[in-house]
Amino acid sequence: MASGKKDSWGSSLGVILAVTGSAVGLGNFLRFPGLAAKYGGGSFLVPYFLALLLLGLPIAWSEWAMGRFGGQHGYNSCPGIFRSIWKHRLSPYFGVLGLLVPVVIYMYYLWIESWCLGYAWKYLTGQMNLGIDQAPYREHFSSFVGLHADGDFLSHGFNLPVICLLVCVFLNFYFIYRGLSGGIEKVCLWGMPLLVLCALIVLGRVLTLGTPDPTHPELNVLAGLAYMWDIRGGLSGFMKSLSNAEMWMAAAGQIFFTLSVGFGVVLNYSSYLKKRDDIALSSTTAVAGNEFCEVSLGGLITIPAAFLFLGAAGTVGGTFGLGFQTLPLVFAHMPAGQLFGFLWFFLLFIAAITSSLSMLQPAIAFMEEGLDLDRRGSVSLLGFITIIGTGLVIWFSKDLAALDAMDFWVGSFCIFVLATIQTLLYSWVLGVKRGRAELERGALLPIPRIFDFIIRYISPAYLLGVFAVWLHQKGAENLAAIRTQPSVRIALLFVAAVLILFLLLIARAVRVWRAREGSKT
Ligand code: ALA
Repeated sequence: MASGKKDSWGSSLGVILAVTGSAVGLGNFLRFPGLAAKYGGGSFLVPYFLALLLLGLPIAWSEWAMGRFGGQHGYNSCPGIFRSIWKHRLSPYFGVLGLLVPVVIYMYYLWIESWCLGYAWKYLTGQMNLGIDQAPYREHFSSFVGLHADGDFLSHGFNLPVICLLVCVFLNFYFIYRGLSGGIEKVCLWGMPLLVLCALIVLGRVLTLGTPDPTHPELNVLAGLAYMWDIRGGLSGFMKSLSNAEMWMAAAGQIFFTLSVGFGVVLNYSSYLKKRDDIALSSTTAVAGNEFCEVSLGGLITIPAAFLFLGAAGTVGGTFGLGFQTLPLVFAHMPAGQLFGFLWFFLLFIAAITSSLSMLQPAIAFMEEGLDLDRRGSVSLLGFITIIGTGLVIWFSKDLAALDAMDFWVGSFCIFVLATIQTLLYSWVLGVKRGRAELERGALLPIPRIFDFIIRYISPAYLLGVFAVWLHQKGAENLAAIRTQPSVRIALLFVAAVLILFLLLIARAVRVWRAREGSKT
């Protein structure tokens, strides 16, 4: 049993908004539209919604149940929660990924968050009038981020990108220091409605643009929406795209990333709930809220807007290309583009900060309950670790090598592994019967019976199948990057060092927990 001093949520709306805030992030507004455009719009939605129903939603339910279960046994961190579910001396060590995944993702996510803040500031102050050609926007992004050479980001001294990064570090640690209800919950209570409002205004603008260039009547709003959502190539095109294994992997990976499932975050957040608090309706609402922001807001803004002004060619370019090079060009073509550009990057910034805060909390909870650190100590230790990590990511800025390596090995590979461990733990160790009893206590929504079957058999099989194909297709390419790029090797060595550090800290935490249990008996 962990120590008695407990953080807690202020209200049930607060916890729903906090989980939704963790889920709604850059993945919703940049990653999802980019993937949908790449994999043929409507066709992508088939594997996407299947992954949502067979992986995302069931695993989210199980995470909420295991989190609240662990919380009732006095634990808020993944190693502690695993220990409360599985009475095996090695079980806390399996929870190391519940610390590593959010902390490492935070290291690079924070940097992207700072780009959003920087762009929002530039729009607000009228510094983004770069004309109506693509090249200046590309060059602007490259120099803002330091894409040309390692160390470029820092070589210009104390300029706007560096200031934005420092502001983001400060804000994240300030709110984390304020605690669960005084920090994270307050930010989400204000941030989430503001984010949705900004998104609705930008969406309203995009949907009322009609045919912006009368000399190109084919580039109109309806054609933009059709480009995003129609199944291209008729039935044969649809069948052909469904046989693309890479699309199935991308859809499953997107579901994990967007829901913050397999991150260790939901386990942590739900552990602060009380024994009789509802988790069934809350978890479903958070998933539905995320899907609204992803499909109905993200899906209707990014690609249709790019299509309207630039045609199909404007919709390619990957996550960062779309968000930071194409959309600024789109705003340049749009009436009142400066205002909409500001709203867009400001909403991305809010989406990002509500997610990055959630990535810090699991490790903070662990350090406090396992190492007996106070808030100042846990924030300082985590601040120290993450500053080195973010420092490496921004130093190796050439072609975003370190960021990409961490995103692949931690932001995708480790998420699959953690999600698999959690699913097995829920179905086979806690057991679907006890799991259902946990889900049903205080439930304001019935969870369908079929869920027990899905989480026990379908989710693990789906997960392992997709994981194997994905590793087979992408693993070799990423292993080659480790062999050939020293920056990738250094970044991953650092990740390995953090992993070992967390394992050592878990060993210490286990001794602390045992000593506490001993003193109680
Ligand atoms: N769930 C967060 C996002 O989609 C991490 O960006």
